[in-house]
Formats: sequence, structure tokens, C-alpha cells
Amino acid sequence: MAITVTPYDSTDEAALDDAYRVVAAAQAVDLPDLPVGDRDEFELLVAHPPYGSVIHQALARRDGVAAGHLRMRLPQLDNTAMATVELTVDPAQRRRGVGRALLAYARKVAVEQGRKRLFGETPGPLPGGPGRPAPGAAFAADAGAQAALAEVRRRLEPSRLDQASLTALLDAARERAAGYRTVAWQGAVAEEYVADIARLEGRLLIDAPMGDLVIEAEQVDAVRIRESERVQRLRGRRRYHVGAVHEATGRMVAWTVIDRGPSTPWHAWQEITIVDPAHRGHRLGLLVKVENLRHALAHEPELRAIDTWNAAANEHMISINEQLGFCPVDAWTDWQLAI
Ligand SMILES: CC(C)(COP(=O)(O)OP(=O)(O)OC[C@H]1O[C@@H](n2cnc3c(N)ncnc32)[C@H](O)[C@@H]1OP(=O)(O)O)[C@@H](O)C(=O)NCCC(=O)NCCS
Repeated sequence: MAITVTPYDSTDEAALDDAYRVVAAAQAVDLPDLPVGDRDEFELLVAHPPYGSVIHQALARRDGVAAGHLRMRLPQLDNTAMATVELTVDPAQRRRGVGRALLAYARKVAVEQGRKRLFGETPGPLPGGPGRPAPGAAFAADAGAQAALAEVRRRLEPSRLDQASLTALLDAARERAAGYRTVAWQGAVAEEYVADIARLEGRLLIDAPMGDLVIEAEQVDAVRIRESERVQRLRGRRRYHVGAVHEATGRMVAWTVIDRGPSTPWHAWQEITIVDPAHRGHRLGLLVKVENLRHALAHEPELRAIDTWNAAANEHMISINEQLGFCPVDAWTDWQLAI
């Protein structure tokens, strides 16, 4: 049984069809409650790579049949010693060495590009909870990777929101946040705040707990923010933001984002939330999150689920999320493999 691994790009329609089929089949088994997105959305993702990274995609075939998929991200502006990998094998083709072949290929590309470490993440059951099987964790451990960071995914179901307690939370937060006002927007941030957003985004990787992951702060400037907004627009994402502005200085010092894809109006991701360290302790995190939740729901009435990830050790953010109504769904591991 011969396994081949071949790179492809966004102009190769047949490869895109095969890749989409493999990824969708795997997700239906591994993470049936998460959106797959349709074939067009998948193509948009491939056609519009994130600014500042090179993306490398490859298909594994077993006796000519598409069996596995690799998506690698090679950061170019910072973190140039690492690459992230997403490995996916068709459930009907597992335990036949396809994953191993894809990882060997990823290693080769990474070494050629001067990388020293691979990063990947895998889902698994909550500790003590009823489990879905976790083939990714067994695979990563077999490959010699180190479990470097424990995360938990939590989900909020808007139909179960307790609006009265949300209002009470918001009122209490506003009281503590005297001297700050909030700004809501969709898509691109106003020019007057773009440098503040760059500063906040650049802090994320150093501020959030990262466990044993060897990772540097990202070099984010206004150009990178604008380019990232452009890519998100081309990918058809709808992104809702709320920021908090310190009225005395006019600077935006807290920010949060909810994002949804073009083909799944029922689902969104709660992404970054960050408060400038000099402005913590004013409930700004809670304030921007509650306001943004309402902002997104006002524009997205079909939303039935919002997912978010936190490091298991990120007590403050978890406490905010649980107050909003996010509940644990599964446990994720970030793996690091020295190459
Ligand atoms: C993880 C995944 C890529 C493995 O693909 P695969 O083609 O089945 O992997 P391989 O056949 O190459 O397995 C290599 C080794 O990993 C380990 N392994 C893989 N799946 C396992 C499982 N379900 N249970 C226990 N060990 C497993 C074994 O040691 C295996 O070697 P062996 O079969 O000789 O015992 C696949 O299950 C998958 O797509 N999972 C969902 C996505 C994911 O978690 N990706 C990994 C993160 S980037």
C-alpha cells in the first residue's frame, strides 16, 4: 500500500475537493458539534492565507485515494523557529500510517525552512468526563511530542442566556469602569484606534498563560492589523468588536472580538479579549465581552452556539466566561515537538 504526500494550492480544484472531503469527514467524527463550513468557505481559507505567514498544504493519498490532509503555517514576521501543523486523516483510513507519513512530510518542510519546533493541538474529553476517543493525543504522544499547554473549550448557547443577570453584570461593570467608554464596530477598526489595537494584539501571546510553549510576542503594527482585516474580509468573515476607551487619554485599552464564517450563521467564535495591564481591575474585560455579545447577537439572530478556548490556568478569563454563561465542552492539548 503506497502512501504519497503532495502539496497543492488554491488553483487546484480537484485537490481542493479531495482536501475538503477528508477534512469534513474527519470533523464529523472528531468534533461533530463544530461547524465544518461549506466547500466555498474552505476554498476561501486556502486562497487567502493569513498576513505574515506562509501556508503549506498537502494531500496524502493511499493507493491513489485521498486519505489525509496537512495544513502548515510558517510565520515570517516573528516566531520564525516554529511551524504549526494541522493533520487530518479520513476516519475510514486511520491506523494505516497516513498520519505518520504526513508528519514526516511536515518535518521535512519545517527543517528546510529552518524551523526548530512543530506545534499542534488535539481535542479530548474533559478530565473525569464521559469521553470521545482522543486519537490525536495518542498520535502526538507516539510522535514524541510534549504536552505543553492544557486548554478547555467552553460554549455559550444564546437561547439559554439569562438576560436579567447579564444586565446586572453589565451595570456592575459600568459602575467600576467610570472614566472609560465603549466603542462597537464591525469589520475594520477606525483609524484613530488602529495603533492601539496593534499594541493590544501584540501583547496577547505574552499576557495569556502559554504553559511550556516556546513562543514569542508577535510583532504587530497598524499595517499588520489592516492586512489581517483585509484577509478576513476576503474570507467572508463577519467580525464584531467592542473596545473600551480611556477617556482621559483617548486611548483604546481593552478589546474583544466575536467572529463567524460565511457559511455557518448558527455558529461563532469568541476570540481575543485583552485589557492593557495598566487598566486592569476596572471590569473592562467583562464590560467589553457582555457588550460585544449583545452587539453580535443583535446582528446575528440565528446564532445558536459561540465557542471559546482558554488555557486551563487562565482563571480570570474563565471566571468572566462562566459569568456570561459559557460551559466546558472538551479539553484540548497544545503539543510541541522539537525537530
Ligand atoms: C491523529 C490522526 C492524524 C492520526 O492519523 P492516522 O493515520 O490514524 O495515524 P497513524 O496510522 O500514522 O498512527 C501513528 C501512531 O499514532 C498512534 N495512534 C494513532 N491513532 C491512535 C488511536 N486511535 N489510538 C491509539 N494510538 C493511536 C499509534 O501509536 C500509531 O501507531 P500504530 O498504528 O503503529 O500503533 C487522526 O486520528 C486524525 O485525523 N485525528 C483528528 C485530528 C487530530 O487530532 N490531528 C492531530 C493534531 S495536529
